[in-house]
Amino acid sequence: MSTFNRESVLSVHHWTDNLFSFTTTRDPSFRFRSGEFTEIGLKVDEKPLLRACSLASGQYEDRLEFFAVKVPDGPLTSRLQHLKAGDEILVSCETTGTLVIDNLEHGRNLYLIGTGTGLAPFLSVIKDPETYLRFENVVLLHGCRCVAEFAYGEMITDKLPSDELLGDFVRYQLIYYPTVTRDPFHNRGRITDLIASGKLCTEIELPELDPQHDRVMICGSPALVRDARELLIAKGFVEGNDGEPAQFVVEKAFAERKWSEPRRRVLHES
Ligand code: A2P
Repeated sequence: MSTFNRESVLSVHHWTDNLFSFTTTRDPSFRFRSGEFTEIGLKVDEKPLLRACSLASGQYEDRLEFFAVKVPDGPLTSRLQHLKAGDEILVSCETTGTLVIDNLEHGRNLYLIGTGTGLAPFLSVIKDPETYLRFENVVLLHGCRCVAEFAYGEMITDKLPSDELLGDFVRYQLIYYPTVTRDPFHNRGRITDLIASGKLCTEIELPELDPQHDRVMICGSPALVRDARELLIAKGFVEGNDGEPAQFVVEKAFAERKWSEPRRRVLHES
């Protein structure tokens, strides 16, 4: 059996000069848990050029969606950014990741902290009905440098609330809080500062983050992951992992790998 599925690109959307999303066909056998990532790539000189990329589509959708940053001169993203409908893309059959709700203990509120393309895994988490059955409130925090980088804002505020499957959950339980650091905007500041100062919780009208009731997922640059983790540990939160659910989880593999150049690997086929 092939390690990769060969999918067809269905659409490409460029949010900014640096950020883009694309959708592909989905092999009917492809399965993943909301919040996981996989490896995607292109065949170059008969070898796959790969990188880790979170699945931004809902588990039940018949297409896959990816949200990526263009790494300047990166051998893969410099090619990926020219993708067009009809192109072939490799999608690993294996998925993995720590940002899955089963890695969290039961709690009242779920906080999803994402910066930049760190939003991607949370798009599948907020499209999963199970998320809303497990938590009373789901708070999606997206931190960006500029307003133009708020990819998916319209989908979250306009489309999801009227979605047939998710509309009721989203309208009553999802709190979306985009915040920028380098542009004028109604929400300003780093997510970590907004939590530490108490501003966030005052504005969304929830109690201060408390390890007894709140659960947190973190995905973004290594600096964000480090600082958010320190903040939570100082508040008494315990980090969970695969098979060891606790009060917060961090996407270590993705955070460490997403900014680096992809690896070359031989495509195994039989
Ligand atoms: P800032 O503009 O103050 O650096 P990036 O594109 O570098 O990943 O940043 C995306 C967003 O994450 C920006 O708003 C950035 O704020 C913020 N950010 C970067 N590093 C941290 C950090 N260590 N803690 C909290 N937010 C961060």
